[in-house]
Amino acid sequence: MNNMTDRLFKKKDIAAMLHEAGTSNGGLKRTLSVGNLVTLGIGAIVGTGIFVITGQAAADYAGPALTLSFLISALACVLAGLCYAEFAAMIPVSGSVYSYSYATMGELPAWFIGWTLVLEYLFACSSVAVGWSGYMLSLLNGWGIGLPAQLTQSTFEHLPDGQWVLTGSLINFPAVFIVALVSAFLLGGIKQSAFINNIIVVVKVAVILLFIGFGMSYIDTANWHPYIPENTGEYGRYGWSGILRGAGVVFYAYLGFDALSTAAQETRNPQKDMPRGILISLLVCAVLYILVTTVLTGMVNYKELHVDAPIALAIDSAGEALAWLSPFIKLGALAGLSSVILVMMLGQSRIYYAISKDGLIPPSLSKVNSKSGTPLNATVLAFILTALFAGLFPLHVLTELVSIGTLMAFAIVCLSIVVLRKTHPELKRPFRVPFTPFLPLLGAAICILQMVSLPWNTWLRLILWTAAGLVIYFGYGWRHSRLHR
Ligand code: ALA
Repeated sequence: MNNMTDRLFKKKDIAAMLHEAGTSNGGLKRTLSVGNLVTLGIGAIVGTGIFVITGQAAADYAGPALTLSFLISALACVLAGLCYAEFAAMIPVSGSVYSYSYATMGELPAWFIGWTLVLEYLFACSSVAVGWSGYMLSLLNGWGIGLPAQLTQSTFEHLPDGQWVLTGSLINFPAVFIVALVSAFLLGGIKQSAFINNIIVVVKVAVILLFIGFGMSYIDTANWHPYIPENTGEYGRYGWSGILRGAGVVFYAYLGFDALSTAAQETRNPQKDMPRGILISLLVCAVLYILVTTVLTGMVNYKELHVDAPIALAIDSAGEALAWLSPFIKLGALAGLSSVILVMMLGQSRIYYAISKDGLIPPSLSKVNSKSGTPLNATVLAFILTALFAGLFPLHVLTELVSIGTLMAFAIVCLSIVVLRKTHPELKRPFRVPFTPFLPLLGAAICILQMVSLPWNTWLRLILWTAAGLVIYFGYGWRHSRLHR
């Protein structure tokens, strides 16, 4: 029994991990600079959150005070971001939290966390692809181009009474298409992907700045009163509880900065650049989000913002004067969503790569293509799974799972920082989270509180997902683990 526990919690040697990453680097190329990291970060972060969810969260929960929700949510993300930065600088290897926990808590916890990261990235990618499909269809419709109805919706729908039904559609074709396109770029190599991402980021940030710049002169300050609408008597409907619930909802808008740490092994100078990359991209996004929300709720009354494209609505509300901006906004949103898919797909494939290198999933998944320097099979697996979920399932089923997976990963990262300071005080820490253990514990507490407030069926799906992961671990990983051999 003791022998079994020893095996399950056997830890990887950090020095050996660093040595391996430092010498052969597993065939991966170190090409990313801090500038690339910031653009990759913004590429991963700015997407559905700001282009869709902002309006709904203002209309339903927080009103104009959604700016405060963005501030609170940013705080939680910065705390987790600081912990990610300490880890990524200390153990700059591929695989993010999965690799960190292998070194600090042992194999089974690491598998559990790796499996949770797969959940986060897989469902984030597929949900954003479904969002992309919606925007694309509306743009095509605007141009008078229609796709056959069998190709525009998910195959399955999950009804509120819990039943699964067929929608009559074969597959959500545009969602599968964008996943295929992004995968093709990724197969071309991380340098090329980073280049495409840079262009997309410039487009989407430009569109957001145009909105802020031109929208500002159409603000009617009467729309900001009351800044915090009175609570309706129901928890989370306006008032301070609404601001808090709004913070929980817009948390999704900041996701993606953690995906950066999966590229640590492909960063030129990870010790210095990783913390900077994570924190700068979070900060830039927080400022953009708060400005957009300020202008948005100033241009249109918050009660009217429960729509699929709130920013486009605000532009339309300004009348003919800003009509030229409307197609740019849609194109900007499409570009924005594409880069979120790009970075999340990158993260997903690097997690498969890292787990496979340890022998916990088949070794073919860590083969690196010598020409492009990218893990080919891992990228193809990420494509197949993401395309399948994006094509078959509706948006709400996919998004539900994203938050719980991410919050759990964040909480574990924060707690691991505290544990590691005690168990491995000797490790070189080029970046240290200030006020440890206070700040990491606060970060973990905020994440756990948000997890607890999620509905029980999300927890049920998390449990099912974990059970499937355990079956794979004990069916395969346990016998093939490189650490045991
Ligand atoms: N932060 C990403 C988005 O808002 C997930 O689309």
